[in-house]
Amino acid sequence: SSDHLRHVESMAQLPSGAGKISHLNAVILGETLASEENDLVFPSQDFSRQALVSSPEQYRKMYERSIQDPAGFWSEIASQFYWKEKWDPEVYNENIDVRKGTVKFEWFKGASTNISYNALDRNIEAGNGGKVAIYWEGNEPGDDEQLTYAELLEKVCQLANYLKHVGVRKGAAVVIYLPMLMELLISMLACARIGAVHSVVFAGFSAESLAQRIIDCKPKVVITCNAVRRGPKAIHLKDIVDSAINESVKSGVPVGLCLTFENQSAMKREDTKWQEGRDVWWQDVVPQFPTKCAVEWVDAEDPLFLLYTSGSTGKPKGVLHTTGGYMVYTATTFKYAFDHKPSDIYWCTADCGWITGHSYVTYGPLLNGATVVVFEGAPNYPNSGRCWDIVDKYKVTLFYTAPTLVRSLMREGDEYVTRYHRKSLRVLGSVGEPINPSAWRWFYNVVGDSRCPISDTWWQTETGGFMITPLPGAWPQKPGSATFPFFGVQPVIVDEKGNEIEGECSGYLCIKKSWPGAFRTLYGDHERYQTTYFKPFAGYYFTGDGCSRDKDGYFWLTGRVDDVINVSGHRIGTAEVESALVSHPHCAEAAVVGVEHEIKGQSIYAFVSLVEGVSYSEGIRKSLILAVRNQIGAFAAPDKIHWAPALPKTRSGKIMRRILRKIASGQLDELGDTSTLADPNVVDQLIALSDC
Ligand code: WTA
Repeated sequence: SSDHLRHVESMAQLPSGAGKISHLNAVILGETLASEENDLVFPSQDFSRQALVSSPEQYRKMYERSIQDPAGFWSEIASQFYWKEKWDPEVYNENIDVRKGTVKFEWFKGASTNISYNALDRNIEAGNGGKVAIYWEGNEPGDDEQLTYAELLEKVCQLANYLKHVGVRKGAAVVIYLPMLMELLISMLACARIGAVHSVVFAGFSAESLAQRIIDCKPKVVITCNAVRRGPKAIHLKDIVDSAINESVKSGVPVGLCLTFENQSAMKREDTKWQEGRDVWWQDVVPQFPTKCAVEWVDAEDPLFLLYTSGSTGKPKGVLHTTGGYMVYTATTFKYAFDHKPSDIYWCTADCGWITGHSYVTYGPLLNGATVVVFEGAPNYPNSGRCWDIVDKYKVTLFYTAPTLVRSLMREGDEYVTRYHRKSLRVLGSVGEPINPSAWRWFYNVVGDSRCPISDTWWQTETGGFMITPLPGAWPQKPGSATFPFFGVQPVIVDEKGNEIEGECSGYLCIKKSWPGAFRTLYGDHERYQTTYFKPFAGYYFTGDGCSRDKDGYFWLTGRVDDVINVSGHRIGTAEVESALVSHPHCAEAAVVGVEHEIKGQSIYAFVSLVEGVSYSEGIRKSLILAVRNQIGAFAAPDKIHWAPALPKTRSGKIMRRILRKIASGQLDELGDTSTLADPNVVDQLIALSDC
């Protein structure tokens, strides 16, 4: 079997409960089924009655239409948006099969529109100018602000005018390195308004990672703030940006302008390091610009943003999304997966530095005219009840978060939850990693008082929006299953040879056809786009995930099957961590694997060989971890460094990660065949060093 198919064993683990239910087909056919059935959790009748999609039959009808007539289905939905000019005549155009030539997805090509206009002006023209667009909740309880749609538009226009004034034109890149301030959303929307391409870098990335991204996309401007508070700490973001820009200057990519928001509650202007001529305070310039700014109409296929994400090999990939299809897709998925109604108050705990924040903090909700809570702080500050305090304060109805947060709050005890009302909650959501059934149940029973359906949304940076997700009023749920595909999505499970397998099965998850929200390329590297995603199983988009389907057709995601690990819902390439470790002068070789972790889902476990003559010490361990923090960011720091006199390799020199994973997770009786190793003794040496 080829390289990318290495982790077959990880997929053999069907979550418990899958496939046990025998009469679900009765429900699908519209008959009734006793809701006491163990693994089925039904939405209440009251919920279903008011839901946008209220039964399996209604879902089926819509789904079938979306598959049989994608052009008709999506163009009808797209017509609800404003297009300066309509697409003509084709709705979409695709080649997903590398064997037939270059892979290409196009939706609504030839149409011109603007996503910022559709998210703001369109809603205001519909009479919602006075509706709250953003409730901003600061790190400190009691520190809050809000903006109506009309006010948000004014702020977006001022920044858009400023960016134009400093020469940012359509197609130019702008890097945004900001925490969850309203200015982050304002920056994204301002770029979109003038056709500039934003590249948001999560403000937890290190200077080196930021530099790498700046060097790749060569922005005219970097937008940041001087500092941010996260829990009790203040982090000096501007210092990180300074060293990133210095680094990129050295690589021949000068950044002429660093627009810096003064985040007064975290740091005073006087205390901020400053480079005259390059650095400009946001507050000194932006408010002077007009509050109206003409929209730059762009082609539906013009780029909207770049977002770097980890893959199984070294360099992060610049995932490129375009305008029209992404707009239609994020808006539609948001609406249906959360059953969004105009009166809802929606809170997604994700950071805009990740795709979830792009699609489901900023674009999807605002395109629906939703009211969005944006939270700057940490969910356990000042204590573990903070989330529910915020839910009660803003009467949040739709709450979307990651399993890792659910598990960490679950550990703190129910009291932190039950002391709050939470009566406003209607739908809960989960994203980023598989949610284990016990966390699902706690989320459902304790947080949602057994009243709120959970939308366990499976998707990826690359997919732009939800791909497999419950529609909360339509289906009985199974804790831990993302249920069924969204409209227009054709997931298939394939075996190692790339043959589709039917019915109850497990294998590799692929997608058969294009969908409007799909990424169009990897920035500057269409070849890598094809090789990574479309060559492993020709004729399909390969997700990198393992998946099984139970006899009722429910999909169960089982985690990555490539060298990507998922730590607290953050996607990290093992190769990136390894490359950070080997950059340490004392590190000869490193191999990184993911191991199961109770709270984080997976944690990073590194096997490290030191160079000749250097002996293992606590000091070196710490400096190795520091190397990772400096090169990637604190969130990628290994939990464990396992000293390795040597790594298990095949005779051709390939590291056998399968064995390392078993050693890391203590499954020593499952090491499997070690006879193909160049030196089988290596394994015993490693086991002996397990506790050092
Ligand atoms: C994983 C995050 C199971 C999956 C939106 C995917 C999930 C990777 C789920 C993408 C889910 C995301 N159930 N696994 N509901 N959601 N994943 O690009 O392995 O940061 O391939 O996008 O997260 O991570 P990314």
